[in-house]
Amino acid sequence: MMANSPAASASLIENALELGINKCLRDAHRLPAFPHVTKDGDWLTSEHGRWTGGFFVGMVWLAGVLREDSEILRMAHSWTMRLAPRAPDRTTHDMGFLFEPSCVRGHNIMPDERLRSLAITAARSLASRYVPQGRYIPAWEPAEGAQYRALAIVDTVMNLPLLCWAAKETGEGRLHDIALQTVSTIISQHLRPDGSTFHVVDHDPRTGEIARRGTHQGAHDNSCWSRGQAWTLYGFARMAAIHPSDEVMAAARNTADYFLQQMGDRGIPPWDFDPAAAGGPVDSAAGAIAASGLLELGRQTGDRRYAESAERIVQGLIAGCVDFEHPEKPGLLMHGTVDYPRRSGVDESLIYGDHYFMEALVKLRRPGLWEILGCV
Ligand code: GLY
Repeated sequence: MMANSPAASASLIENALELGINKCLRDAHRLPAFPHVTKDGDWLTSEHGRWTGGFFVGMVWLAGVLREDSEILRMAHSWTMRLAPRAPDRTTHDMGFLFEPSCVRGHNIMPDERLRSLAITAARSLASRYVPQGRYIPAWEPAEGAQYRALAIVDTVMNLPLLCWAAKETGEGRLHDIALQTVSTIISQHLRPDGSTFHVVDHDPRTGEIARRGTHQGAHDNSCWSRGQAWTLYGFARMAAIHPSDEVMAAARNTADYFLQQMGDRGIPPWDFDPAAAGGPVDSAAGAIAASGLLELGRQTGDRRYAESAERIVQGLIAGCVDFEHPEKPGLLMHGTVDYPRRSGVDESLIYGDHYFMEALVKLRRPGLWEILGCV
């Protein structure tokens, strides 16, 4: 891919950010509930919020800050409060995804006891899932399928900063300990020696020992699902920032290096890094998550390579996945893939792709806002 001049690149990033703000504000006014994934040209929405409700809300908060508009901030607050019924939910690991961009970001922008208290409740709900004999957090509930009873997924690493934040807010050190033990388990159980990751690790529910390693959304058990890899590099970088650790920082670098090595000079990640997946769909969301995570890792390490790679991925996403010609179309980032093995949400906009893309654009163009983005 040909590199743009710095000025052209800055202006493209600025234009993409402006488009993202406009789209999410229009959605905040018109949508009946939380957008999740596009289908047939518009967002599928859910009042429950599934695992993704926090991302849309996080974008509205960013729009309010970028526009310096108190009316938009009030709207972000009211969308956030619609997630309140989910805070006591103990049936999922997704509490960081739901409550960090919504409540913690909102509380960082406009301190508010209701937001703080919801995020603390959500962290306690997440901690209640921790399995001490295996030192892991199961992602889902057996009610969704008996096979999920003791199944851990790498994505969980992104939910751990909420535990550390809540520990700091409340003085409940056990929340911080659970986060540190879980990240250590993810490193020892999901990482392969080459820096790639197993998406899932199943455990023996009685002993907590590993029963099987493999995948849920990837091409096959020994492949590397690109979005899972993006979650890990970002999650490890964040955990290393919150609690400095050579082990976690090495994991962040190894997973990031593997991601970049697999990317080569591609601008958009394939849905899975297995060579057999090369002709299949791409996953722009994996690119957006990786770009935001690489910027974080670049900030932590001072290694310019990570920030430069992030900017290159952002440019690839702008060139291949942003439609400036049709600003009325729902979704900022085209060409995301939810779950290719099940042919679910293929070549669609995903609200998490949009969210992390907007986050990466903010980090590149308004680095002064970094601290408000989430748990620190
Ligand atoms: N955490 C679910 C996904 O990335 O699809």
